[in-house]
Amino acid sequence: MSEQRFAGRVAFVTGAASGLGKATALKLAREGARLMLFDRDAKGLQDVQAQCPGSVSYVGDASSSADVNAAAAASREALGPAEFLVTSAGINGIPKMAVDYTEEEWDKLFDVNVKGSWLAVKALVPQMRELGKGSIVLMSSTAGLGGSKFLAAYSASKGAVTMLARSLALNHAHEGIRVNCVCPGTIDTPMAQEMFVVASQMGGAAPPTVDQFRTRIPMGRFGLADEIGDAVLYFLSDAASYTTGVTMPVDGGLKA
Ligand SMILES: NC(=O)c1ccc[n+]([C@@H]2O[C@H](COP(=O)([O-])OP(=O)(O)OC[C@H]3O[C@@H](n4cnc5c(N)ncnc54)[C@H](O)[C@@H]3O)[C@@H](O)[C@H]2O)c1
Repeated sequence: MSEQRFAGRVAFVTGAASGLGKATALKLAREGARLMLFDRDAKGLQDVQAQCPGSVSYVGDASSSADVNAAAAASREALGPAEFLVTSAGINGIPKMAVDYTEEEWDKLFDVNVKGSWLAVKALVPQMRELGKGSIVLMSSTAGLGGSKFLAAYSASKGAVTMLARSLALNHAHEGIRVNCVCPGTIDTPMAQEMFVVASQMGGAAPPTVDQFRTRIPMGRFGLADEIGDAVLYFLSDAASYTTGVTMPVDGGLKA
């Protein structure tokens, strides 16, 4: 029997159909949380929902205020006010140098990664205010802590997510709402696999190979989605009751 740190408490998770959001949702469910699972991927959501007893789900676009607000209202209606929010919906885009993005590609990355995180927070903070407490984790990236040669727009968007989390922590500390930011390194999920394939197909810019990605990590391996889920659950939990505004790499030592 696992710990039940979240028994009966309500969590809203975006990007819940895959990778880090899925791993986090499954861990929260195992510890008794009741979940709103949000993603654009209906099939993936269905699979995760089937493994999370008492959960509800909403198929929508994280960058659409209409979708996010409707999901927040549906969650409130079905489960009561949410105490927890994890924003894991994100895209990394096509590896390119900054000047090679089209305006449309650039806007899309910022819409999903930055605006999407902000919209979810904006929709869920009123529910946390009802409760007089809350804990939010924004999923950023080690790419948001330093420049990235081949994921320039992604890196810029994650830098914005990191600073958004810190500003939110300052905005809401007096209301009992904590906001922290997890920065995964390279974690073995569908997103990372897709990036390796695309990077390997890039032309003259000599992108890193999968082995080069791996060997630059001090621990010598990619991370597991569960290892990120564990960090997220720590920040959400009461064990982190005096912790807000923290930006934490979980990266096998990459940013040491
Ligand atoms: N995997 C890594 O190595 C890694 C490293 C650093 C940061 N991250 C970040 O972690 C988060 C999760 O990544 P992952 O590896 O689990 O990727 P993933 O592709 O496995 O999962 C992302 C999920 O987000 C959903 N999603 C994407 N755009 C959406 C939108 N507009 N509306 C609704 N849902 C949307 C996808 O459908 C998918 O289910 C992302 O924000 C990513 O940038 C991942």
